[in-house]
Amino acid sequence: MHDSASLSFDPERPSDFFYTRAMELGISGRRALVTGASSGLGLATARALVAQGVHVVIAARSSDKLATALTTCSPSRGATISSLVADVSDPDQVLQLVEQATEILGGIDILIANAGGPPPGNFASTPFAAYDVALRLNLLSTVAMCQAVVPQMQQQKWGRIVAITSSSVREPIDRLILSNTARAGLTGFLKTLAREVAGDAITVNSLQPGLHLTDRLSSLYPDPQALASSIPSGHLGDPDDFGHVAAFICAEHAKFVTGVAIPLDAGARHGLQ
Ligand SMILES: NC(=O)c1ccc[n+]([C@@H]2O[C@H](COP(=O)([O-])OP(=O)(O)OC[C@H]3O[C@@H](n4cnc5c(N)ncnc54)[C@H](OP(=O)(O)O)[C@@H]3O)[C@@H](O)[C@H]2O)c1
Repeated sequence: MHDSASLSFDPERPSDFFYTRAMELGISGRRALVTGASSGLGLATARALVAQGVHVVIAARSSDKLATALTTCSPSRGATISSLVADVSDPDQVLQLVEQATEILGGIDILIANAGGPPPGNFASTPFAAYDVALRLNLLSTVAMCQAVVPQMQQQKWGRIVAITSSSVREPIDRLILSNTARAGLTGFLKTLAREVAGDAITVNSLQPGLHLTDRLSSLYPDPQALASSIPSGHLGDPDDFGHVAAFICAEHAKFVTGVAIPLDAGARHGLQ
């Protein structure tokens, strides 16, 4: 149900109108921690959740970026949103983050596990030490987050874990050897976890973004719009669309969806799986 005031259309803020009319997901009042959420896909997911009445804590490393990010969110139905500074590649900071978020929210029902991507490079240009850093950022961060939140989800017999990975899990991307390596390992971890905690009404899934217009894409490619022709839809992904799909995976009625890795790439990859 939406209150009538929230349905008025402001042409200056068309996305607010869309958010207030978004499909009812049955998660109003739930509590979410969204990491890597001061920009891009993480922020868009936080925006979609808070518009569903979910109480949200967003986390990232820069407090300035987090402060700006908060101003772009429109909480609905009494939801709250706040931020915490944390580097998720550091397991001690992850523990502290989960503790603080739990205190602020009174518990965590939904975890959106996300971080920035690792630097580009191929086999010849990438030293061993870089793998260590990338695995901490894009694999072990999510392992640490899951270790910290799963026990409380098991106790409350409800949970949603969604990791943001990459379409590179399906088709490794040239020049992104660190990302290709870390995301594949993470996907194996998540599938294993999903089966182990399904009996506790916890779902564990990953979303595999194709090319979405974010800071990350602009940092990797000088002219991201030139990539649009490589996508069957002819345009880059909209982070807000991504965010709504992520929120949908957290819906009450998505309880039978677990252990899956879903590509959001407008059909860019050729494989059947
Ligand atoms: N956009 C795409 O087309 C695409 C495609 C495939 C995969 N992906 C992957 O999807 C994820 C999100 O991408 P995006 O495009 O939204 O990236 P983005 O716009 O660069 O945003 C990354 C977010 O993560 C935060 N972050 C980075 N390192 C962090 C850390 N160590 N601890 C906590 N927060 C951290 C950043 O803020 P701070 O810097 O302040 O920490 C920022 O809020 C990345 O892993 C990316 O590689 C994206």
